[in-house]
Amino acid sequence: MKPYNLSPATQSFYHLPAAETFSGHCRGLACFLALSRHPQGRQNLASPPHDRRIHCLGKCYAAPATTIVEQRPAMGVFARQAIALERLVRGGARTLTEYRRQGGYRAIELALVLPPQEIIRQVVDSGLRGRGGAGFPTGKKWRTVSGQLSTEKFVIANGDEGDPGAYIDRFIMEDDPHCLIEGLVIAAYAVGANRGHIYVRCEYPRAHAALQAALGEARRDHLLGDGVLGSSFSCEIELVQGQGSYACGEETALLSSIEGNRPEARLRPPYPAEYGLFGKPTLVNNVETLANIPWILRNGSQAYRKLGFANSRGTKVISLNSLFRRPGLYEIEFGVPVRTIVDGIGGGLSAGNIKGLIIGGPLSGVIPPHLFDIPFGFEELHAIGAAVGHGGIIAFDDNTSIPQLIHHVFEFGAFESCGRCTPCRVGSSRIARMFMKILDHGPGSALERTEWQDIVSALSQASLCGLGMGLAEFAQSILRYYPGDLKKCFA
Ligand SMILES: Cc1cc2nc3c(=O)[nH]c(=O)nc-3n(C[C@H](O)[C@H](O)[C@H](O)COP(=O)(O)O)c2cc1C
Ligand code: SF4
Repeated sequence: MKPYNLSPATQSFYHLPAAETFSGHCRGLACFLALSRHPQGRQNLASPPHDRRIHCLGKCYAAPATTIVEQRPAMGVFARQAIALERLVRGGARTLTEYRRQGGYRAIELALVLPPQEIIRQVVDSGLRGRGGAGFPTGKKWRTVSGQLSTEKFVIANGDEGDPGAYIDRFIMEDDPHCLIEGLVIAAYAVGANRGHIYVRCEYPRAHAALQAALGEARRDHLLGDGVLGSSFSCEIELVQGQGSYACGEETALLSSIEGNRPEARLRPPYPAEYGLFGKPTLVNNVETLANIPWILRNGSQAYRKLGFANSRGTKVISLNSLFRRPGLYEIEFGVPVRTIVDGIGGGLSAGNIKGLIIGGPLSGVIPPHLFDIPFGFEELHAIGAAVGHGGIIAFDDNTSIPQLIHHVFEFGAFESCGRCTPCRVGSSRIARMFMKILDHGPGSALERTEWQDIVSALSQASLCGLGMGLAEFAQSILRYYPGDLKKCFA
């Protein structure tokens, strides 16, 4: 696994240099919200044992979390068919023997005797859309990479999972690593690539270990390397360790990170599908997206398409934070009302009154309770200023005030900004400071109210990537759905 040999200037972009071990308390949003029930934890955050800030350990089901305490979340399937959690709900398949015993690597055998275009057609027909945030049609992206005239192409599994509240990819990588490898090798064959990378955040040491072991097993069994399973197709996959930067999950920053450059987002077009890693056509897909591929190949695109609704087909794994009565990882079908997720699957909050939901990470719109009847789907959530995003679902209760929430989210944004765009670099920290002052000293001035609105507008219009734009979406949803709370913030 690579921690790259980075120059000091590049290294300074990362909060957790890979060479160092780190320990401490998670400062992600799910843990911040859980502190309202564990006030003694605030002291730990106020005086961290070191200056390394950890944003999300993927333990949001047991928040407030530390690097030390480890427990597996509850898991369940609320769909007609389990796909991404198929083996996880049965305890996982961490070894090659177990994965094969449960039908694993059959999809790659089926794929290798098909023409690549036929595999792409199946992925297109399945209606699968990216599970990493943007919901881009997966087959369409594969077709674009496949159509590039280049002798060298890459495939990348994005396992950075930086969104606080999301721990879906973590458990797929830990408990079902061969499924990700199988999905990635099929993707490589379909688009004409011979090299792949799996980028895993360093906050997930168990996922690294599981993937490292699984890659070794796959190499020994000729599922990787020259002539995969005796075919003429060759494929090698390398594991890359993130170094504690949320921005690296953004696909173009991720490419720069693997190249050993400053992990800043790049201007698009050109898209990675045309000009990606080292300037070569590159397919970047999320871990859960790729984990759906073997099932689609084994069961057919129509079986997948039957699940879900409207333009959101198939299933989605969601992760519920610790404030729910039943926090955990659940596979649902698209189309289920958000209220069913909150009350039926999550069992409501274990204490207090729900004040809102943050779906898909802190950089998206907040949903107030009166909108919980909305179906869980890409377009449906978008229509109310929210997003499916990564699938993390964070509930917050009335122990957290809106100014506290704004301060936390903007402080996170400011800390993680890659710094390339002025509204994101300067504006996010300005808003964080403004709301810190409001929390400490009471309502801000009318001038500050205008300034906050102007910064939100600048973030929305002049951000190069989803980090700055997501901060704007979060703020706009607060402006829209919590006007009474905001009114009290300014004189
Ligand atoms: C700030 C930021 C962070 C992101 N983090 C992740 C991440 O951790 N994992 C991920 O799969 N996608 C992440 N994305 C989305 C990726 O840029 C990209 O859309 C995705 O990996 C593509 O895969 P998909 O089409 O399978 O969803 C992030 C985007 C932004 C703007
Ligand atoms: S929006 Fe923020 S994180 Fe994204 S490129 Fe601009 S400065 Fe970097």
